[in-house]
Amino acid sequence: MKQKIGEILLSEEEISQRVKELGQQISNDYRGKRLIIICVLKGAVIFAADLLRNLDISADLDFIQVSSYGDKTESTGAIEVIQDLATDIAGQNVLIIDDIIDSGLTLHHLKEKLLAKQPASLRLCVLVDKSERRKKDVEVDYVGFRIPNRFVIGYGLDYAGEYRGLPYIAILE
Ligand code: IMP
Ligand code: MG
Repeated sequence: MKQKIGEILLSEEEISQRVKELGQQISNDYRGKRLIIICVLKGAVIFAADLLRNLDISADLDFIQVSSYGDKTESTGAIEVIQDLATDIAGQNVLIIDDIIDSGLTLHHLKEKLLAKQPASLRLCVLVDKSERRKKDVEVDYVGFRIPNRFVIGYGLDYAGEYRGLPYIAILE
């Protein structure tokens, strides 16, 4: 059966308002400190770009890409680093930005990997949290929205490489 764009869960306006609030909160928390934002490719690229523009402190930016679901909608659990950081994060204040946390396995593994590099601090920010599905307890410091257990697309989130460019977040039907 062919998938299509279903109900809009989070509108462009709702997302933009919430990203502003997160930007304020993060700016206040890191004011006076040096911050490195790590954008988890590819899904977080749009969220990270918007968030960065809503910070009123300066922050450096780096990227990491880890293996994803491929064309499936279930996580396998193991992650593989496909593209690693260019920055040495030892002794730095690091904030991981991701689009979505589902089972928590990806971000749990990523946090462990980055903690091994001994940053001064490591926090996590996700736009969307599907907490019902959690298999690994992961502390998320900044959450945009909690949503029910549905597969969603748009605003960076894809299904098989499609729909990332939608300005809103919708349910995949
Ligand atoms: P986790 O390891 O189960 O937490 O999965 C995290 C990754 O799965 C995310 O970074 C996304 O790439 C992908 N993912 C999980 N749920 C969705 C969804 O509803 N839409 C699109 N991608 C998703
Ligand atoms: Mg992702």
